[in-house]
Amino acid sequence: MSVITSIEDLRLLARRRVPKMFYDYADAGSWTESTYRANESDFSSILLRQRVAVNMEGRTLRTTMAGQAATMPVAIAPTGLTGMQHADGEILAARAAEQFGVPFTLSTMSICSMEDIAAHTASPFWFQLYVMRDRSFVESLIDRAKAARCSALMLTLDLQVLGQRHKDIKNGLSAPPKPTFMNLLDLALKPRWCMGMLGTRRRSFGNIVGHAKGVSDLSSLSSWTAEQFDPALSWQDVEWIKKRWGGPLILKGIMDVEDARLAAATGADAIVVSNHGGRQLDGAPSAVKALPQIADAVGGQTEVWMDSGIRSGQDVLKAVALGARGTLIGRAFLYGLGAMGQAGVTKCLDIIQRELDTTMAFCGRTRIVDVDRSILVPGTY
Ligand code: GLV
Repeated sequence: MSVITSIEDLRLLARRRVPKMFYDYADAGSWTESTYRANESDFSSILLRQRVAVNMEGRTLRTTMAGQAATMPVAIAPTGLTGMQHADGEILAARAAEQFGVPFTLSTMSICSMEDIAAHTASPFWFQLYVMRDRSFVESLIDRAKAARCSALMLTLDLQVLGQRHKDIKNGLSAPPKPTFMNLLDLALKPRWCMGMLGTRRRSFGNIVGHAKGVSDLSSLSSWTAEQFDPALSWQDVEWIKKRWGGPLILKGIMDVEDARLAAATGADAIVVSNHGGRQLDGAPSAVKALPQIADAVGGQTEVWMDSGIRSGQDVLKAVALGARGTLIGRAFLYGLGAMGQAGVTKCLDIIQRELDTTMAFCGRTRIVDVDRSILVPGTY
C-alpha cells in the first residue's frame, strides 16, 4: 500500500490483513444493509458553507464528553471481538486513545478483559454493558468495572435481540476460528495476523470466560451469548443499573425522540444517537438523520452524542453542527487496528483530527464547541 491518507486506505489494508470472518464481522451491516449504507450516504448529502477571509488562527478541537477531557469530540466506540482484528486489539486501541487524549470504551464482548485494559493503561476508560438475563453476572461486571477504574458506564439498549448479519452466519463466525479447510486456507494468507495471535493468550471473551457460570470455552459461549442477552430489558432495569453503578452513565442506541425523552428522564449523563452502525434494525433511518430532532428535544437536559457512519473529520464536524457534543467511531478505528495495530489506530485518529481541524477552518470557525447548524447549507440536512 502506498501512503495512507484516509480511513478508506486503512479499510483496504485491513481487508488484506484480517481473516475474512473478522473483517466481515466488523464491516458488515444487518439484512439488506440499507441502514448501514444510509449512515454514510446521508452524511455526504449534508453540505458545508465555505467561508473566507475569516481569521482562522488559534483553532481548538478540545472539548469534554461526560466530563472527560478530549482533544477532539471523538471517542473509541465499544466494538465486539476487537482482539480478533489484531492480537491484543483492545489493549492496543486503548493505548492509542490514551496517547491521543480521547476516551476509550471497552465492550462487554471484548477479547481483552477490563482488568487487562486497567493493567496496560494509566487513564480511566469507559465500560460498555449489555444486560444479560443472569443479573448476578451483570452485577459482577459492574463491580469489576468499578475495580478496574472505569470512569463511565455505557449501557447499550439496542441489542435485546440480534440483527441478522448474513456474512457472520455464512462464515461460521467464532473466536478463535474453527480449524475448517476454508478457515485454514484464509489464515495461511494472513501470516502477520497469525503470528500476532500465536504470541498472545487472549483469544476468547476476556470479560466472560472464567467469570460467567458454566462458561469455560468458546463453543458454549456463542450459544450462551445468544441465550443471555435479555429481551425483557426495561427502563426499570436502566434505573437499577444506574443506582448499582452510581457513576456517570451513558445510554447508547437511541433513535427515537420519545425514547430520547425517556432516556434523558433517567438522569443519564449522555445519550448516544445510534443504530449500532446499521447492524441491528435494517430499515431504520441513518443516525445523522435522527440526530437533529433528538438534539432539539433533549439537548438541554443531557449530552447528546452520535455514532454510526462516521468515516472522516468532515462527518464529525457535521454531527457536531447538528447537535452532537461528541461522536463515537467504531469501524474507522477497527480498520486502523486491523491494518497496522496500535499505529493504525493512531493513524485513524490523526486522519480524523486533521480533517476535522481543516474543515472547521474552511467553514470559518476556530472553536469546535462553538460550531452549530449555521455552518451547514440550509435544506441539506
Ligand atoms: C455487537 O455489538 C455487534 O454489533 O456485533
